[in-house]
Order: sequence, then C-alpha cells, then structure tokens
Amino acid sequence: MTFAEATLDFELGASPLVSEHQRLLRTALRRGPAPEDLPATVATEAYDPAALQAARRVWRQRMVNEHHSATVFSAMLPQLVACGAAVPFKTTLLRMAMDELRHGALCARVVEALGGTPQAEVSLAVPPLPEHVGCGPLESALRNAMFVGCLAETVAVAFTAEERERTEEPFVKAVITQISADESLHARFGWAFAQEATPHLDAAARARTDRWLRVAFAYLEREEMREVPDVRPPSGLRDQGLRLGVCENPSTRELFYDTVREAIVPGLEALGFGAERAWRERDLAA
Ligand SMILES: [Fe+2]
Ligand SMILES: [Fe+2]
Repeated sequence: MTFAEATLDFELGASPLVSEHQRLLRTALRRGPAPEDLPATVATEAYDPAALQAARRVWRQRMVNEHHSATVFSAMLPQLVACGAAVPFKTTLLRMAMDELRHGALCARVVEALGGTPQAEVSLAVPPLPEHVGCGPLESALRNAMFVGCLAETVAVAFTAEERERTEEPFVKAVITQISADESLHARFGWAFAQEATPHLDAAARARTDRWLRVAFAYLEREEMREVPDVRPPSGLRDQGLRLGVCENPSTRELFYDTVREAIVPGLEALGFGAERAWRERDLAA
C-alpha cells in the first residue's frame, strides 16, 4: 500500500483484512463463477503490440473509473438515510459500492495480464456529489439515483453486454461477464428507486425534475463522448481490440444514442417524466 495521493494501486497488501476481503468476494458479492478463480493470463503473443498497448490504456482507464464509482455509491448512503428509503435500497447500494471496488481490482488484473502495471497516476481527490439546491431529501436522492442508475448504469449495461459478446480472451471475457452482470443490478437499483420515490413527488417537484433532466442528459452525453472518442482504429487492430474487450468507438457511440432513445427515455416517460422533451432540449441546459 502506497498511501500516495496520486497513485491508484490495487495491491491487496498483507493486512488481516485480506482474508475478509476474499470472503466477501465469495459470499456477499458472489454472482456465478468468480473471475478471481481463473488464471489472470492473456495470450499476448497472439496480438500486435499496438493492440496490446491500446487495450492496456482502455483497461487502465476502466480500472480508474470503476474504482471511482465506489465513491459515488458510498456517498449516496447518507441521502438514502435522510429520505427514509427502505433498508434493501441501502444494503444494495453498499453492495454496489463493493462491486465497483471489485471491478477496479479486476480491471487491474486485466492490465497486468496485458503486460502493464496495475497502477495509475491519477488524483485520488473525491469531488462531492452534486447538490440540488432547493430540493428536499427525497428529490435530491431521486436525482442522484436516477442519474447513476437510470442513466449512467443503464448505458454501462448496454456497453458491457456488447463488449462481452465480442471478447474472446477467456480471462478478459470472465471479467467483463462479471462486470456486466453487476452493472445490470446497479441499473435496476436506479429504476426501482425511481419507481418507489416518484409517486411521492408533488407537481412542482416533478416539473423541477423534468428541467433537471435536461442538465443530466447534457452531462451524460458529454461524459460518454469524452470516454468514447470518435476515433476508428485500423481494421486489423480493431478486430484484435474487440477480442481483448476494447469496444469499437463509432459503433459504441451509436449504441449510446440507441440506449438513450430506446431504453432510458421510454423508461422515464413511463414514470411520468417529460424525458423525451428533456433529451430534445438538452442543449438548452448549457
Ligand atoms: Fe462497475
Ligand atoms: Fe456499476
């Protein structure tokens, strides 16, 4: 353990908590066969060095993002407490935070298997959750649960399901399968919370939520487009990348827009929100 402020490191260390961590993976977080039980290897000799380098970059960034998601979920617990959410939402939320730490550690194993070091030089400072000025505890919690579950994780489900289909390296496929299955719970959390909370909003809160959705959509689109740059790799590298769990950027961008139009907007409309209009008017949010 480095305790460095600018290094994300996935060494388990030698503390007495290592066995507790491993017990959690095998009990509370279990979801089918554990990728941790497989040899963390990739047949690197079968790939072009450029494909391996690109894959290391993608998996290292995922390692950082997954680990960061744990801070979002754990920071949401006080909001669920403050709005009086039922206990299953709270336990599931904390499970989700643990899932994300595990995902970060699994991505780190993939980076290592690809010949890289499972570390990233990044700021470990954690920005606070968005504050929703003028909203009560339920409305604030709902906005954050909607953003992470109904928006971001619903997109993650679509992306990881697609990557799982294309990945061929056995260890990498086992990791993406685990991540994809967990992300679908994370999305369900958001939709289930929205289902429970929405009937408790009055007309003014619903109208505020509709206006906020424009901001949320604009932010989501900006972040996802930043993560998936509009760059098409040469076709040979593209195929090798797909086998290593690296998505093809242009089709992933299309998948983002399909997911918003076909899953997210209709889901929010069914809850009574003006999501279609909010998506259409997201540019006004700026
Ligand atoms: Fe994750
Ligand atoms: Fe997640």
